[in-house]
Amino acid sequence: MRVLVTGVAGFIGSHVAGNLLERGDTVVGVDNFCDYYDPQIKKRNIRELESNERFTLYQEDVEDYLHIKLIFEEEKPDKVVHLAARAGVRASIEDPLTYSHVNNIGTSTLLEMSRVFDVQNFVFASSSSVYGNNTKVPFSEKDSVDFPISPYAATKKAGELLCHVYSHLHNLPCTCLRFFTVYGPKGRPDMAPYKFVKVVSEGTELTKFGDGTTSRDYTYIDDIVDGVVSAVDANLQYEIINLGNSQTVTLNQFIDVVERLIDKQAHIVQMPIPPGDVERTYADISRAKELLGYNPITKFEDGMEKFVEWYLEERV
Ligand SMILES: NC(=O)c1ccc[n+]([C@@H]2O[C@H](COP(=O)([O-])OP(=O)(O)OC[C@H]3O[C@@H](n4cnc5c(N)ncnc54)[C@H](O)[C@@H]3O)[C@@H](O)[C@H]2O)c1
Repeated sequence: MRVLVTGVAGFIGSHVAGNLLERGDTVVGVDNFCDYYDPQIKKRNIRELESNERFTLYQEDVEDYLHIKLIFEEEKPDKVVHLAARAGVRASIEDPLTYSHVNNIGTSTLLEMSRVFDVQNFVFASSSSVYGNNTKVPFSEKDSVDFPISPYAATKKAGELLCHVYSHLHNLPCTCLRFFTVYGPKGRPDMAPYKFVKVVSEGTELTKFGDGTTSRDYTYIDDIVDGVVSAVDANLQYEIINLGNSQTVTLNQFIDVVERLIDKQAHIVQMPIPPGDVERTYADISRAKELLGYNPITKFEDGMEKFVEWYLEERV
């Protein structure tokens, strides 16, 4: 099978591509190596993939219709995993236009090319952020997501809506996966797991937003990859599916785990919770279990141990 993976040099994309190659698929990777974080990290993420002859890389913008069309013409992918995006809630408040441009136009472009070139299945990376400050837990796909609280979240909801249009009008099977805070080796440097491990190991200040009672459903990368690859295989007509761990960890517990693994005390500076940040995330994963056979197995402490091991070996 030929799978086109956008955002292939990113955290999740490089893992997904690695898994697809390992099982024998051909991967056509697209990434623009944008400087949201250091592009050298992205180059390192795909180092191993590039030595595989079933991997081809295109350095292009997903919103560049003409170049994306050429890639589809040349490669004729069977399936698409669309992970390329501007990620990150806080940065989207600073730069909402870039988020709209990349995430909305990029998703429209990939969907349109998938329609034109008769792609068999389209898997889209959505986000738990679409739930906004949902008070009902755990978050179910049936809950309203009409009240996002950041530009990033709004672009992800828009992506889900566009997928619905293509599924409905053009019979393009689309699965929207709502990822819940993904962490693990190659993790993004702008996310808390990376930042906390970095500052605690270096003995610099750890900025803690709020009193530490906010919580997140952290999902280990290998579990997410299993869910994504199952969605690639499932060819569901139109589904929105949470991919989380269905376990919450408070910020205070998180800091305790990092201190224990690094064996150092954090120098904590407390700040107010930034606008756009949600109070909690917590996934109901019954739909993922039913439709994808999804079964996350990594406990937070174990996943963080693997992450810290990777960080200490590979730190940049
Ligand atoms: N990591 C998480 O916890 C998380 C949670 C929810 C949703 N997501 C979503 O999952 C996807 C992957 O996230 P990630 O954590 O791997 O992020 P990432 O930033 O590491 O990966 C995204 C990749 O997309 C590329 N990209 C950005 N703009 C592009 C453009 N215009 N054209 C081509 N490539 C472009 C980047 O260079 C990067 O390599 C994103 O859509 C993100 O919104 C991630």
